[in-house]
Amino acid sequence: MRKKEAKKRSCLKPTPSVIVSMRDKNGKNNALTVGYCCNCSFDPPMIMVGITPTRYSYHIVNETNAFVVNLTTKENQALIDYMGSVSGRDKDKFKEMNVEIEEAINIDAPMIKDCPVNIECLVVDSVHTGSHVMFIAKVLYVHAREDLLKEDGSIDNSKIRFL
Ligand SMILES: Cc1cc2nc3c(=O)[nH]c(=O)nc-3n(C[C@H](O)[C@H](O)[C@H](O)COP(=O)(O)O)c2cc1C
Repeated sequence: MRKKEAKKRSCLKPTPSVIVSMRDKNGKNNALTVGYCCNCSFDPPMIMVGITPTRYSYHIVNETNAFVVNLTTKENQALIDYMGSVSGRDKDKFKEMNVEIEEAINIDAPMIKDCPVNIECLVVDSVHTGSHVMFIAKVLYVHAREDLLKEDGSIDNSKIRFL
């Protein structure tokens, strides 16, 4: 089959939607849905997330340098939609959705209990790429549901029902 030029925007697909959660300096929790998220270093383990500066979450991460990447499954669809369409500027999103949280160990941030994997991250750099600022972060701790773990401690992604 012949190939033709396609649109460039967000051409790298599929990428899983994650929910990035954080806490501001006054103790308010917030989270947003993020499609721009990927590994960016094997050693040391690092990942990056892209957040547009107009997001309420952007200012929190920029100030605290800390966030949690919560991996999501099909069961988290309603939360993904809500966190991706409502702003923390207008609502307390955790309260509105009755989100159960657990505390991260190494950073001051909430982890979403219903998500099967929660990754604690500390920002070490950021790059303004264009529409997004890529926050480059060290992975400090990975909390994974026991049934998803392989013997070597890695996550068996085939067991996660990604969207
Ligand atoms: C599937 C999906 C993917 C999204 N990906 C991103 C993203 O990568 N970066 C971003 O800044 N916003 C992204 N958004 C939009 C934000 O999640 C949305 O604007 C959110 O309401 C911002 O919340 P906040 O203002 O509380 O930070 C995405 C939304 C959806 C539904």
